Amino acid sequence: MSLSKKVTVRSLKLGKSKGEKFAMITSYDATFARLSEEAGIECLLVGDSLGNVVQGQDSTLPVTIEDMCYHTSCVAKGVNRALIVADMPFMSYSSPELAFDNAAALMQSGAHMVKMEGGAWVAGTIALLTERGIPVCAHMGLLPQSVNKIGGYRLHGKTKTEAKKMLAETKLLEEAGADLMLLEMVPAQLAGQITQKLKVPVIGIGAGNQTDAQVLVCYDLLGVSGYIPRFANNFLHSNNGSIQEALAAYATAVKNGSFPDEAHTPG
Ligand code: KIV
Repeated sequence: MSLSKKVTVRSLKLGKSKGEKFAMITSYDATFARLSEEAGIECLLVGDSLGNVVQGQDSTLPVTIEDMCYHTSCVAKGVNRALIVADMPFMSYSSPELAFDNAAALMQSGAHMVKMEGGAWVAGTIALLTERGIPVCAHMGLLPQSVNKIGGYRLHGKTKTEAKKMLAETKLLEEAGADLMLLEMVPAQLAGQITQKLKVPVIGIGAGNQTDAQVLVCYDLLGVSGYIPRFANNFLHSNNGSIQEALAAYATAVKNGSFPDEAHTPG
């Protein structure tokens, strides 16, 4: 895809129909948002990972809707064309009514779409928001907001039963109105199957390179996070220590399918 025009839900879907890949990166402030857009990255995710990498928390659970609105408004000030997706933080969508008010606050802060973690149980909320003009990115596979329930960060969808359930639930969320699907820590083959089955673009993180797009936490790809997952490549290291070149190299590698390679695909 190209960033010569405003990136929209429609242009991303059109890109999928033409087999064009796109890149997404997390962004929490105006300067990195601007650099990411200048590097050709189509989508910026104001991730609740800001709890870990900006606030120094040990999970995303303490992040509030006020934190998310603040960072979304900072990111929105840095860009003109990139599509901004803002995370709904922990417990901000535990009921459809709560989700509606919080999603509206994120959209009024500058988001073009909101993201929420969960399977079948979020389908009704996705329908409610999308019918009222709020696009939603569904997030399945590893759900960091459920870390206390699942007991750690690991690959999801490894068994036949888990894989079948994930295939069915991703389809259900698409039918409910989800405009994008994000898969975190899912076996590459399953992520590929889901990508083929869904009409909406599928974004992967730790899910191999058969998806329509990739996302990485910005600080992971620059190699500066305290903990760097195995699926993240240090693009700063291989690009002369230049942040601008690292971001551009990430965008290019995602679009030409060279990232993630085997070494950055969990198995
Ligand atoms: O919050 C975040 O950064 C995310 C990514 C890990 C996908 O949700």
